Amino acid sequence: MSINELARVAAAMVAPGKGILAADESTGTIEKRFKSIDVENLEENRRAYRDMLFTTKGLSDHIAGVILYDETLRQRSADGTPFAELLAKNGVIPGIKVDAGTKDMALCPVEKITEGLDGLAKRCAEYVKLGAKFAKWRAVITIGKDIPSAACIGANAHALARYAAICQAGGLVPIVEPEVLMDGGHDIDRCQEVTEWSLREVFAALADQRVAFEHMVLKPSMVISGKECSKQAGVQEVAERTLACLKRTVPAAVPGIAFLSGGQSDEVATAHLDAMNRAGGAPWRLSFSYGRALQHPSLLAWKGSSANVAAAQRALAHRARMNGLATSGRYSTELEKEWGRAA
Ligand code: 13P
Repeated sequence: MSINELARVAAAMVAPGKGILAADESTGTIEKRFKSIDVENLEENRRAYRDMLFTTKGLSDHIAGVILYDETLRQRSADGTPFAELLAKNGVIPGIKVDAGTKDMALCPVEKITEGLDGLAKRCAEYVKLGAKFAKWRAVITIGKDIPSAACIGANAHALARYAAICQAGGLVPIVEPEVLMDGGHDIDRCQEVTEWSLREVFAALADQRVAFEHMVLKPSMVISGKECSKQAGVQEVAERTLACLKRTVPAAVPGIAFLSGGQSDEVATAHLDAMNRAGGAPWRLSFSYGRALQHPSLLAWKGSSANVAAAQRALAHRARMNGLATSGRYSTELEKEWGRAA
């Protein structure tokens, strides 16, 4: 992929009115999702579920790209078309999770480091052949007593930067995802402090590794109160804090920021994105790369049965549409209800 092509793909991933569907759950993570609807974690069920998501009519209206898992990139739709080809034909860019997951970090109790750099250049070359245009790597930062440590912040930033450089050299646009977990009783001040620290280190490491900011997408968590915090910040405060944090740390050369949902409820994740876009004035496009917050109602409607495919697809299309509106600050709870009923 030429340099121009990397810039074109990065811009297309955060095109106005659109975002990214994260459907790259590992086999272990999808098992948790399937358990909630009492579906067995078999390869055919994983294939059928992704087939349902990807064949949703009008998916490309509000979904610019889909992040796939290794197994999914090698699977086919019911009619025999490889998923990557099916998505591309329908105007959706296929992407691939390339990290090998989080592991316990040596000498840093509780903390995680993301692995997967070994052999990454070779895997990227294969993924390009299979049709992927972008990649994702997720780092996890945990807030707790005396953590995160500088060791964890630094090592994860370095790994993200090495991954991003390898992807750009290999022709894939990297999604750089440093996720500050919402688990814990910390308040929003602490979340903001840790998020700023982590993003500063990530962008310093990206610059050190010669990563072109123009050819990447940032996928951060929002600045929110810890899940168990007794004082939960409202939508406006989350939007203001998140924007302030990003403006302090993310170069304007980055074309777009696509948030993860991280366990926020579907509608709250949409409302937060909408409030940020209503505020305006950001130098980057502000969009979504949600997993749970896009898939949750669809998964519940599907329940593992082909008889429910149409209802499950309507549920996904509805969430995609609501988040599409939020990318330009045009979402409202009225539209949520009105269109939700129609779906
Ligand atoms: P969530 O939106 O469910 O956090 O998933 C996004 C993602 O890709 C996590 O890596």
